[in-house]
Parts: sequence; C-alpha cells; structure tokens
Amino acid sequence: MKRILQTLAVGVFAFTSLLPDGTALANEEVTKKEQKQMTTVAHRGASGYAPENTMAAFEKSVDMKAEMLELDVQMSKDGELVVIHDTSVDRTTNGTGAVKDMTYEELLQLDAGSYFNEAFAGEKIPTLGEVLDEYRGKIGILIEIKSPSLYPGIEQKIADELVDRNMHKPNNNKIIVQSFDHDSVMTFHSLLPSIPVGVLVGYSPNGISNVQLAAFSSYADYVNPNLSMIDSDLVQRIHNQGMETYPWTVRDELSADFLLNVGVDGIITDYPDYVDPHLPDQAA
Ligand code: G3P
Ligand code: CA
Repeated sequence: MKRILQTLAVGVFAFTSLLPDGTALANEEVTKKEQKQMTTVAHRGASGYAPENTMAAFEKSVDMKAEMLELDVQMSKDGELVVIHDTSVDRTTNGTGAVKDMTYEELLQLDAGSYFNEAFAGEKIPTLGEVLDEYRGKIGILIEIKSPSLYPGIEQKIADELVDRNMHKPNNNKIIVQSFDHDSVMTFHSLLPSIPVGVLVGYSPNGISNVQLAAFSSYADYVNPNLSMIDSDLVQRIHNQGMETYPWTVRDELSADFLLNVGVDGIITDYPDYVDPHLPDQAA
C-alpha cells in the first residue's frame, strides 16, 4: 500500500495561443499535478490490534500493508538486544523488574501477550535479530533506540546486527534508526552513516526553532515530533532543511486526516487502517 497522499494541482490554467494573423489556435487547459507518497508506520507493530512489540503485532503490520513497522530496542543484562518499550517488564509482561537487570533467558520466559488479550498468550519478547531476520524485505523497519543512557554501546550493537545481515547497504530494506536521545542518534550516524537517522522530539510549548532544525539537519534525515506540535508551517520548515517528518502517535482518524492535510511524509500509528481507510477493517 503506497497511498497517494496528495494530488496537488500546482498549476491549472487556460490559455489561448495566437497564430501570426491573430486568430486563436486553441484553448488548452494545462494541468500540472504533483503527487506525493506517504509512509504508514505501524507503531510498535500494529499495536492497536495485537500486543505491542511482539511478532504478532509485526505480522499484523505486514497483513495491514503498512510500509514500515516501528519497534523499541533495549538491552538485556547479558547484552542481547531485545524489543520492548518500557525499561521495566511490568506493564507488558507477566513479570516484574528492569530489562537491564534480566538475562535474555529470563526475559524469554515471560508472556508478552496476555496483558493485551488472552488470545495472544505465549507471545515472547523478540530480539532485534529475530525481527530483522523475519521481516527484512517484507516491510521497512523503524528502529527506536530506547533509553540508550542505560545501555552503553547499544549503538554499536545495533550497527553490528545490521552489518552482519548486510542490511546497511542501499537495497530494498528500508531501515531508519531514531531516538529521543539525540547524542545517541549522532553516535549511531557516525558508526553507520549509510543508514538514515531521525530525531524524536517530545511535546514542547516552545515548538521547534529553525536553529534547532538546522542543527538536526547536519546529521539527521527525519524530524519526528509529537503530533500535537505539527502544523503546516513546521512541516514546511522541516522540508526547507532537506528533512522529512513522521509524527507520532495517531490513535484516531481525525488526527490522521489532519496530518495528511498538512503534508507530512509519514504517520506513525497504532492503527494503520486509520491512515488508509481503503484498507479492510482489521479489528479482530
Ligand atoms: O516512533 C515514535 C514513538 O514510538 C515515540 O514514542 O513512547 O511510543 O516510543 P514511544
Ligand atoms: Ca517507539
């Protein structure tokens, strides 16, 4: 599903061409259209329909024909890259404790599906490698480095996972790495400059200045703010700096329509069908 977001009539006009004797040749209508494609990103997988950051949610992203899935990466006590949003396992599993204090074997014992619905009992916390192996070539992957200050060296480990799979070269695997921690984004960019990177920006009443955007543009390809910060002026200013924007997180159709209208490049959503209403209803 490569949804055509906008068909912009950038010049619609009629003119009359005159022959040398002054007679009219024809009235022609010239219509120039510019079409733009928009990327739907399934947030933590299609997490409106399946437990976030599980293979079930990622599979749903593919079923729903999103262009990308988004996931959150952290690190276990013994150095495994694991896909989970919170820094503790309490909310999304049947266990308790900090991710960084648990070994991968301990994390693997947890049920990451039942909290959402018993129908998903037995879903596991995936590793980044498992997701890359399963979904490369099937759907783009937007990797968020979550709380990197807790995990020294996590940028190098993510880079290694991509290089080991030859996924750092331009091919049909669309990969983007992003974080709220902009130092971490810069570190990753310096390690693997062939992979596009994005800066996540949380809500601030001060907005995002042109000075900030210019700084981001020295290393980032994407500026991805909280959707409540977005208006057409900010989208234009991001574009003026040569970057794109994928705001987050859409959980209602009005927000999706608003973002479509102001010309964002992508939408990060729990409900991919809210962005493309032509998709079949995916609710279980
Ligand atoms: O991809 C953007 C979004 O995931 C950032 O917020 O808290 O859902 O990781 P969060
Ligand atoms: Ca995230």
